[in-house]
Amino acid sequence: MAKPIFLIGFMGSGKSTWGKKIAQALDLPFLDLDQEIVKHIGMTIPEYFQKFGEEKFRALESDFLKRQAETDAIISTGGGTPCYYDNMQWIKDNGLSLYLYHTPKSLWSRLSQSDIKKRPVLQGLSGEKLHDFITTKLQEREPFYEQADIKFEQIHTSLEDILQLIAQHRP
Ligand code: S3P
Repeated sequence: MAKPIFLIGFMGSGKSTWGKKIAQALDLPFLDLDQEIVKHIGMTIPEYFQKFGEEKFRALESDFLKRQAETDAIISTGGGTPCYYDNMQWIKDNGLSLYLYHTPKSLWSRLSQSDIKKRPVLQGLSGEKLHDFITTKLQEREPFYEQADIKFEQIHTSLEDILQLIAQHRP
């Protein structure tokens, strides 16, 4: 039976970029969980947060995750996906998980250059406050991310390395 490969990690870690690269190399479809949710709700994630609140979003996110049980695809998850409900355990039971690791400084530099408005969790944060938030939030989330089957740091890893790791874990 086909099992999905989940990319997990903090906001701005490059899950979608790597997901697309891996999908292309393995000739598998690529799916972005956030995009699937956006298609369904007919509004952006910041709009949904504002209208219905984070709790409702987390419930929806968990529901969408669990619809992917037999999807033979590379799936990029949202930064918070593994950290709510029993989502991380579900990911482990239903697919192969890859954690795209960065230091807080690297995330800070990447997120500082991105459009913060697209990320409701980071609303109003910049500079030192953004750095402190990332450090604390990453610490909180790492116990979930660290449960992944494969952990890789992008500066030290090539696509070939990742494909090899996947092959070792995927019979
Ligand atoms: C979130 C990350 C976002 C998105 C939502 C919440 C989070 O996805 O799911 O804004 O809590 O980390 P990305 O990791 O793709 O930015």
